Amino acid sequence: MIEIDRVSKIYRNDQVETVALADISFKIEGGEFVAVMGPSGSGKSTLMHILGCLDTPTAGTYVLDGKDVGKLKDDEQAGIRNHKIGFVFQSYNLLPRLSAHKNVMLPMAYGGIPKSERIARAARLLTDLGLGDRLEHNPSRLSGGQQQRVAIARALAMKPSLILADEPTGNLATVQGEQIMGIFRELNEQGHTIVMITHEQNIAGYAKRIIEIRDGKVLSDSGSYGHRKAGGEEGGDHGPA
Ligand SMILES: Nc1ncnc2c1ncn2[C@@H]1O[C@H](COP(=O)(O)OP(=O)(O)OP(=O)(O)O)[C@@H](O)[C@H]1O
Ligand SMILES: [Mg+2]
Repeated sequence: MIEIDRVSKIYRNDQVETVALADISFKIEGGEFVAVMGPSGSGKSTLMHILGCLDTPTAGTYVLDGKDVGKLKDDEQAGIRNHKIGFVFQSYNLLPRLSAHKNVMLPMAYGGIPKSERIARAARLLTDLGLGDRLEHNPSRLSGGQQQRVAIARALAMKPSLILADEPTGNLATVQGEQIMGIFRELNEQGHTIVMITHEQNIAGYAKRIIEIRDGKVLSDSGSYGHRKAGGEEGGDHGPA
C-alpha cells in the first residue's frame, strides 16, 4: 500500500537548512498497524505529513496504492487526502463552534456525499464510538477522550483505507488513551491500515510493528524481523551475531 523509497526532506529557511528526513525507505502493506517512535525533532511529523499528502519530499518517491504521489496534481493529491486517508491529531483539531455531529459531517460535504447520508452516517459513527447522546454537544462541552472519539469519527467519515495519527493519545489520561487504542485495534481488525506516532511504549504496544526514527533515518523496524520488541527493552541490538 505504502512505498517510501529513499525519501529526504530538507527544510530551507533563509540560509538555514534542516534535514528532517535523510534517505528513508520502507514499505507498509495494507492491513498493518504501525507505530512510529523517536525523540522530538527526529522527523516523525514530517514523515506523517508526506504519508498524508500534506507535504512532498525534497527527494525520493512515495507510492501510495500504486500511484507516485509526487507526480500527481494538487487536486489529485487533495482527492487522495479526502477519500483514502483519515487524519487524527494530538489536539483533535475539531471546529469549536460546530456540534460533534456537524464536525463529523463536514468532510462528507467536501466529499460530495448527499445530505441525508451525511446526517445518518455521522450519527452512526458517533453512536458506534459511544457518543450517541452527545451529538449536539460542541467540543468545549466534551472531555478530551470524547473529543478524540469525535475526531476519529470524522477521520472515518469518508471510509478511508489508511488512518494516520500523530500522537493521538498525547493529551489524554492513561485510561482514555487505552480506550482510544482499543478503538484503533478494532478498526485495524476491520481492515484499516493504521500508522500512528507515539512517544509512549504502552501505546506503541497496541501496534503490530514499530518503526523507530532517529535523526531522520530508520533506526529499527520490528517489521523487518517479523516480531515486535518487548515493552521497555533497551535498543534494537540483540547481541553479536
Ligand atoms: N516547517 C519547517 N521549517 C523548518 N524546519 C522544520 C519545519 N518543520 C519541522 N522542521 C524541523 O525538522 C525536524 C523534524 O521535525 P518534526 O516535526 O518532523 O519532528 P518530530 O519527530 O515530529 O518531533 P516531535 O516529537 O517534537 O513532534 C526538526 O529539526 C524541526 O525543527
Ligand atoms: Mg511531531
